Amino acid sequence: MSLCSNNSSDVLITNATIVNPSVDGSWRIGDGESILIKDGLIREIRQQGSLKAQDDQNVTVVDVAGRFVTPGLIDCHTHLIYAGNRATEFADRIVGKSYQEILENGGGILSTVEETRRAPIDRLHELASTRLERMTRFGLTTVEVKSGYGLNLETETKMLKVARLLDGPRARVISTFLGAHSLPTEFHGDKVRYMDYLVNEVLPKLTDMNLVDIVDGFCDQVAFSANELLPYFERAKSMGLPIRVHLDQLGDTDSFNAFSHLAPISVDHLEYINDRSIESMAQGNTVAVLVPTASYFLKQQQKPPVEKLRYYGIPLALATDHNPGTSPVESLLLAMNMGCVLFGLTPSEALSGVTINAAHALGVSDRGRVDCGMLGDLAIWDVTDPVELSYYMGHTPLWARVVGGMVFRDDSSSR
Ligand code: NIG
Ligand code: FE
Repeated sequence: MSLCSNNSSDVLITNATIVNPSVDGSWRIGDGESILIKDGLIREIRQQGSLKAQDDQNVTVVDVAGRFVTPGLIDCHTHLIYAGNRATEFADRIVGKSYQEILENGGGILSTVEETRRAPIDRLHELASTRLERMTRFGLTTVEVKSGYGLNLETETKMLKVARLLDGPRARVISTFLGAHSLPTEFHGDKVRYMDYLVNEVLPKLTDMNLVDIVDGFCDQVAFSANELLPYFERAKSMGLPIRVHLDQLGDTDSFNAFSHLAPISVDHLEYINDRSIESMAQGNTVAVLVPTASYFLKQQQKPPVEKLRYYGIPLALATDHNPGTSPVESLLLAMNMGCVLFGLTPSEALSGVTINAAHALGVSDRGRVDCGMLGDLAIWDVTDPVELSYYMGHTPLWARVVGGMVFRDDSSSR
């Protein structure tokens, strides 16, 4: 996408139809408003005509001609940095092998670990940067990026350095350490010793280098149990880092209770989460992050209990979970579509899921709504109804993105 505002980040968006999502999955649609972004933040939102910037030479005026304007989209769960792909594994699964079987035989995550360990940092950066560029075409302005294909200090460091390099004017990147993704072969089945290594060696060194914003772990039958993960999460918490958990994707671990004292900012996947775990979640502020594209790609029949999560008022977020094994998707809009079709979310819930609730799943409250004081991150759409954001499959109706007041458009000549 090309940059098309002047290099000042001060911009006045006029004739906007603002679609503002809420935590409860509803939205409010405005009419003919102007949005003033100065120094990267939304400073004023007014009815058309009452906000004028003509006297201020440094403010770029962008007339969006009544288009729908949402907060910039937030993909709150991705594994964007890796080398290679897993197309062969996909072909094997299509003819009947299961994800679990492939993983247990040294394939799956571990095959991506091998390729990622071998890849030079520049190559990893180039690959991830190209993916990120494509993801922005669907309105994304913030993305969370996990490590977890290194599983040793050297490669986890390399991945998280790439994540920091990706953060920039085009998109904001939040970095998550996912050392507890899978057990590397050199630990010969010794999960306790691996956790010890992560807790005492890897995590402290990565945090010393300021490479970690959040800590994540994979709690599932094919990965780690709650007991194995607890020392890892407790250490992260004691360092002031928020935690998230890949939970109950492939089976019910009945373990939310074990983590509740650590107040996870999100738990993700949840196909098999049980009632007890949901009731325990409802006591706190944990966001449920749903990943319909991974569910589709693994042909899972078991769906997350959306009705129950809704009943308990648990905020619902949606993410692509972009990764080479279970979700090689780059479109957050397709995740919205599948969230509606496969999981029964409404289009307004889907929008909340990739904006305000995605922000909360990342522990940030400075984005995800179009409000004064929020970051100046917007997506502007060529649609006649915001429901269309969840409707198209493959097509992107994005007209422009705004990141911190900088306007990006594919075709800058048409402005
Ligand atoms: O979120 N569940 C664990 N991690 C990824 C899959 C990673 C992989 O298969 O490479 C996920 O689906
Ligand atoms: Fe994931």
